[in-house]
Amino acid sequence: MLEIENLMVFFENALALNGLNLTVQQGEVVAVIGSNSAGKTTLLNAVAGLVNDMRINSQRRGGKRISTYGHIYFKGEDIIDWTPRQRVLNGIVLSRERHPIFQESSVLENLKIAGYLRKRSEISNSLAYIFRLFPALKALKRRVAGFLSGGEQQMLAIAMALVARPALLLLDEPLLGLSPHMQATVMQAVVELKQFSGITVLICEQFAQPVLPIIDRGYVLENGMLTFSGTGAELIGNPEIHAAYFGRLAEDGVDGQN
Ligand SMILES: Nc1ncnc2c1ncn2[C@@H]1O[C@H](COP(=O)(O)OP(=O)(O)O)[C@@H](O)[C@H]1O
Ligand SMILES: [Mg+2]
Repeated sequence: MLEIENLMVFFENALALNGLNLTVQQGEVVAVIGSNSAGKTTLLNAVAGLVNDMRINSQRRGGKRISTYGHIYFKGEDIIDWTPRQRVLNGIVLSRERHPIFQESSVLENLKIAGYLRKRSEISNSLAYIFRLFPALKALKRRVAGFLSGGEQQMLAIAMALVARPALLLLDEPLLGLSPHMQATVMQAVVELKQFSGITVLICEQFAQPVLPIIDRGYVLENGMLTFSGTGAELIGNPEIHAAYFGRLAEDGVDGQN
């Protein structure tokens, strides 16, 4: 479904992604594990079309020079020149790092805002489907989003991405700031997405431990380069990966109430 070939992204002279090759098959849950600054957000932003946007805006303002090379194929089509909007309309939907939500609006209002590209009737279908998938969110739908716990806010952020009816859902650090218990809940939601919706998922994370048990395949990203790939079990069984990426479980977990 997604094929990335030799992707390179430069910010001025700094290489954020260095000749990256990655595939995601239809129906798979694939993870990219990497520590801070490895290039995770740049990778997902490139797939979502945001790196292109940054490049064009930056060029227009005479700002930082961003250059990209390589190809991204979605369902066999080269999408490198597609706008972010075209990508969303074709099913490529990004749930961004640190989940920007409207703090003063209710859960329901946030979900409706997220559906701005879609018809009203489609949105109400999506909402019914999201509330079946995340019953906890249904119970909170009138709650002001800013008063939700960190885990509930992350659930809302994923749900906001689901309103756009993704075929390929991109999750950028969905576990950031969550307690181990909330991390497990969010990962369980991903398992349910795969089982009940058939949505293909690409997750970027620095916390390997909660992610690896639920994925089909994973990659390790270091300094913009993929250094290892394998099934979830192969990654769990690799002593180097264990040493480097385990024990990172909720080390900055701030969501203590969950
Ligand atoms: N807009 C930008 N301008 C300059 N450098 C950037 C920009 N975005 C990311 N980078 C650099 O690219 C590298 C990868 O960053 P990023 O993709 O955000 O990593 P991660 O999400 O894994 O923490 C880092 O060295 C970062 O400093
Ligand atoms: Mg990031």
